[in-house]
Amino acid sequence: MAWTKERLEEVAQTRLGGSKLIVVANREPYIHRYRDGEVEWIRPAGGLTTALDPVMRACGGVWVAHGSGDADAEVCDKNGRVRVPPDDPSYVLRRVWLSKDDEEGYYYGFSNSTLWPLCHQVYCRPMFDPSNWDAYREVNETFARAVLQEAEGGPALVFVQDYHFALLPKLLKAARPDLVVAQFWHIPWPNPETFLVCPWAKDLLDGMLGNDLLGFHTQYHCNNFLDTVDRALECRIDREKFAVTRGGHDTAVRPFPISVDTDLPKEYLGDDWEQRAKALRKKHRLAARPLLVGVDRVDYTKGIPERLRALDRLLTKHPELKEKFHFLQVGAPSRTHLPAYRDLADEVQELAEKINWEHGDDHWQPIVFLNEHCGQEDVMLLYRMAAGCVVSSLHDGMNLVAKEFVAARDDERGVLILSQFTGAAKELTDAVLVNPFDVDELATGLHLALTMPVEEQERRMRRMRIKVQDNNIYRWAGMLLSEVGKLVPEPVAPPTPEPIVPVNDPIEGRIARENFITAMRLAGC
Ligand code: F6P
Repeated sequence: MAWTKERLEEVAQTRLGGSKLIVVANREPYIHRYRDGEVEWIRPAGGLTTALDPVMRACGGVWVAHGSGDADAEVCDKNGRVRVPPDDPSYVLRRVWLSKDDEEGYYYGFSNSTLWPLCHQVYCRPMFDPSNWDAYREVNETFARAVLQEAEGGPALVFVQDYHFALLPKLLKAARPDLVVAQFWHIPWPNPETFLVCPWAKDLLDGMLGNDLLGFHTQYHCNNFLDTVDRALECRIDREKFAVTRGGHDTAVRPFPISVDTDLPKEYLGDDWEQRAKALRKKHRLAARPLLVGVDRVDYTKGIPERLRALDRLLTKHPELKEKFHFLQVGAPSRTHLPAYRDLADEVQELAEKINWEHGDDHWQPIVFLNEHCGQEDVMLLYRMAAGCVVSSLHDGMNLVAKEFVAARDDERGVLILSQFTGAAKELTDAVLVNPFDVDELATGLHLALTMPVEEQERRMRRMRIKVQDNNIYRWAGMLLSEVGKLVPEPVAPPTPEPIVPVNDPIEGRIARENFITAMRLAGC
């Protein structure tokens, strides 16, 4: 039976019983901002919010997130709550306010300058700054307080997202042992040697083992996590059940490959997409030439310079392709406060200009680089118009652009060129799989996208569409909820904070003491 919004609604009702669903993610699904003196709202770029918003629309509940828009406070009540989606409300967004120092240390610092490069092995050195670590701990506590407030007065399933909140599960369990806590880690989990260089690795792992269920995109990341815990902490690991027991608490570790809502492309494309496509071609002087597209946040894990170098190679090796196609790269500005991200945007801009200078002329420019935020309507339009979509991540937990492209191709045409180092490559084996570090292989992939016979495109696309349709976002959420339901059948005892007995190991003893103190503080003792 296919997974639909309606089926997920039913599963949510059965599995959640009377429990409230509370999702916690750093990024909010809707941002309110001022434009020309008026408040407007946008959907941020990034896979997590695109994937989870349909789930929340189906299940209802509360999404707790950092309120990052300059008009966010304007539309909220005194508790930071606002109903969303703004045009058709079906759940509550609870915004958490952070100071600039919090954001600097927790988001830009520990989350995106330590954990992000640590978990993505793309040769960017992680920063280990104790003051960022302090900010990370404090913000995890701030979020714990907000979640506990939302969970007051009844049972709740707290579904924590991503690497911004490794400490949150343990904090929540310590304050409210009756809460069911699950976490999904949206980025890769590296091998133990890599992860354990982090000076606070044990604290992070200990925090994550507060979860009842911990999900990764792939089995490989689950294995890496278990190996890391095995090396670092005192605990029992059951490799058959894929569970860790620590301090009498069990955490199940499972793969759940995330996906997309396959109905959305149709909704976003509407009936007038062909007219919009014409206008877009005119605006960027694309004529009727075949179009290759890339849609990414400008992030060093996405392999954007690598794909531009491959385009350069392609045009050098195949000069007959000059004036025969365009490559359009949407690069949504991301984390631009960090020098690594600003430098990357400059690098991409310079590379695009250099390649256009070398191979293009007044009438034809091979590369169009749009360094701007692009709405879902336009992104879907690009997918639908394209001859091919290039996903050349150097390392990526899943990559939902690949799945969105497939979902948008109801004509069963178009070629997906996909990095073998994405989680998506495990499922979408009918894509043209490439090693993005290999400039010749990537150039050959681009060439194939421009020359593949229609019958072969259709054969591959049909198979990929079946996979994405069968394994859509509703299935992802449904499987997670079912697993949580199995693991924690009955809600347990009333909400009394449980002391965690300090152990002799100096580091583990410190973790336990700190957890205890924090739990008492959060519980208002
Ligand atoms: O996949 C990791 C992730 O942090 C997601 O949470 C999000 O979709 C994306 O990257 C965007 O990042 P940010 O929220 O920092 O803009």
